[in-house]
Amino acid sequence: MKRVTASAPGKVTLFGEHAVVYGEPALVMSIGRRVYVSAELRGDSNVRIAASDLQLPGVTVTFAGNELVVETDYGRTLSAVAYLRSAVDIVSNYLNVFRGVNLFVRSEMPVGAGLGTSAAVAVATILAYANVLGYDLRKEELAKIGWEVEKSVQGTASPMDTSITTFGGVIKVRLLGSNNYEIKKIQVNPSLPIVVGYVEREARTKDLIIKVRKLRERHPELVDNIIRTIGMLVEDAEKALVGNDLTLLGELMNVNQGLLDALGVSNKRLSDLIYAARAAGALGSKITGAGGGGCIIALAPNNQEAVEVAMKLSGGLTMRTSLGGPGALVHSEEPPTPQ
Ligand code: PMV
Repeated sequence: MKRVTASAPGKVTLFGEHAVVYGEPALVMSIGRRVYVSAELRGDSNVRIAASDLQLPGVTVTFAGNELVVETDYGRTLSAVAYLRSAVDIVSNYLNVFRGVNLFVRSEMPVGAGLGTSAAVAVATILAYANVLGYDLRKEELAKIGWEVEKSVQGTASPMDTSITTFGGVIKVRLLGSNNYEIKKIQVNPSLPIVVGYVEREARTKDLIIKVRKLRERHPELVDNIIRTIGMLVEDAEKALVGNDLTLLGELMNVNQGLLDALGVSNKRLSDLIYAARAAGALGSKITGAGGGGCIIALAPNNQEAVEVAMKLSGGLTMRTSLGGPGALVHSEEPPTPQ
C-alpha cells in the first residue's frame, strides 16, 4: 500500500501575537520539534485517523456522532483531530479529487500548548494527503490551504502559524486583508538562546482573541494604540534579530510582555514564570502565543539552566528544543519513531 509521511514544525512567536490579528506584523520562528502525519490510500471512501502519540497527559477520547472529542487531564477539549479531517476535506476540494485514506499522526510536542501544533497537524496532513494522491503543492499553496483549515476549525486565525510551519526558519508575517497576507524570510542566528516554559492552559486561543476584541470595543483608542505600539516594536525587534543584539531583543520582549498584559491575555501563573526567568538572569521573557496559560519564552544567553530551574520552581515545565527547524517536508524514508 502506498504510504507517504510528511512533517511540519512547531513554532514560537517571538513578537507580535494578538496585534497580528489587527494587521500588525509578527515575528515567528520554527522549532526543532515536529508533527508527523502518514497517509495511506484506502480502497473505499472512509477517512480513518489514528493518533498514536499526541503527547496529551491522561487523554480520554469520545466519539460523538461524527465528532471525536479528545479531553486531557486539564479538562481541556482538544480538537487536534478536527484539523486532520478538515485538512482532507479542504485539500480534496482544492485538488478536486477525493480518496479514502488512513492517517497516522504523531507529535514531538504537547498539543494545545501554544506551540502551533494545530497548524503543523493541518499542514503535514495536507502535504501527506496531496502527495499520496500524486500532487506536488507549492509552498505558497500549502500555507494558504493550511490557513483555510485553521480558519474553518477555529473561526478566527491569522496566517502566522500556518506560514511558519510551512516555510520554517524565521519569518515576519502581516495580514493584508481577510484572505491576503505577506511574509518575509528573515536571516537570523539559528542558535538564539531561548528557553521555553509551560503552564497549564486556562483559556483557548479563540476565547483570548474574543477577549481582546471586546476590550477594543470598550476602549477603541486605547487598545488601538497598544496594538500599534506592538507593531512598532516588531520593526525594532526585526533589526535587533538581524543584528543579533540580544540585550535589545530582551528589552523588547519585556516591553511586548507589558503590552500583552495590558491586553489582558496574561495570568498569574504565566507572570510568575516570566518574572522568575528574569530574576534568574534572562535578558527578557514573554508569553508566546495566545496566552491564558500555555508557553512563555525567555532569552537566556548565559544561564539557561538557572532560568529553567527558576521556571520549574515557579510551577512550570520547561522544554528544550533547537530553533529554526526546516519547514514542512515529505520524508523519502519512514522517520524513526522515538521509543
Ligand atoms: O495559540 P497560538 O499559539 O496559536 O497563538 C495564537 C496567536 C494569536 O495571535 C493570538 C492568534 C493568531 O491567529 O495569530
